[in-house]
Amino acid sequence: MVTAQRILITGAAGRVGRALRPRMARPGRTLRLLDIAEIEPPASGEAVETVRASFTDPDAIDAACQGVDAVLHLGGLAGEAPWERIREINIDGTQRVLEAVRRQGVPRVVLASSIHAAGFRTRDDAVPVREEGAAAGAPAAELPADIAPRPDTFYGAGKAAVEALGALYRSRFGIDVTCLRIGAFRPRPLAPEDLAAWLSPDDAARLVEACLRAEPAGFRMLWGISRNTRRWWSLAEGEAIGYHPRDDAEDHLAALLECGSFGRADFDPAADRNFRVGANFCTMPLG
Ligand SMILES: NC(=O)c1ccc[n+]([C@@H]2O[C@H](COP(=O)([O-])OP(=O)(O)OC[C@H]3O[C@@H](n4cnc5c(N)ncnc54)[C@H](O)[C@@H]3O)[C@@H](O)[C@H]2O)c1
Repeated sequence: MVTAQRILITGAAGRVGRALRPRMARPGRTLRLLDIAEIEPPASGEAVETVRASFTDPDAIDAACQGVDAVLHLGGLAGEAPWERIREINIDGTQRVLEAVRRQGVPRVVLASSIHAAGFRTRDDAVPVREEGAAAGAPAAELPADIAPRPDTFYGAGKAAVEALGALYRSRFGIDVTCLRIGAFRPRPLAPEDLAAWLSPDDAARLVEACLRAEPAGFRMLWGISRNTRRWWSLAEGEAIGYHPRDDAEDHLAALLECGSFGRADFDPAADRNFRVGANFCTMPLG
């Protein structure tokens, strides 16, 4: 099994990138961190290179991809925005990253997608889990990770395009591509819907490491969530490549109940916020 030794992370100054930086440090591995925003300089002994550039700049992203074993593309707009911005940064920008990956012969890419690519999927779309395939404690019905998109916003539609671009570059050029439909990435769950969608920082690192090790090369779609008791999204696709999340949002339930912001109805599985993948993104104004 080959472990990537030099990894380019775009959007490295963002929330996910900052959380992954210390968690992805390994002896013999160098992280090349790219962002348009300021990146914290390397600490003494930290094997990190920093690149202050936009991945929408073809020359800059070409140079950043030189000599890397994998690209973790986190950069971009992480929420709803006007269509022109989504198109320019999240869609055209991802295409620029994939072109640079192809030109530089990088064998592996992990793309940050989002649950909002499938935000209008509901519990009614969940598929009963066959008993012999069910992991201990798994829900009775789960939403497959590669379920066809049903975006809830321009942001979600942009992520669906990112997934399609990933599939294209896999099929045409044989690049190993994993799309992560990331849920609610935060230190701890902050809303009732996070009890299903939470991705803890430690599990995010476990997920990315599994993607970097996955063999054989292919195209994968995975939900980026922790082992949440209330999940109704499949972890089987992640487990197939060695992603074994350990954190459970349920451990934070008492704090959520005590914060006083939510009533009993907010925790009802039939409430819109818990019934639709995209929760409140399904009703927010577009753009
Ligand atoms: N945080 C979550 O809960 C969550 C959930 C689902 C998906 N995601 C996805 O994961 C990724 C990371 O999310 P995050 O929470 O860290 O977002 P973030 O907004 O904290 O960070 C994104 C980073 O990308 C950088 N960036 C934007 N445009 C750039 C460009 N043209 N060139 C270089 N860098 C650029 C920004 O400066 C920022 O540092 C995003 O793609 C987001 O859509 C995040």
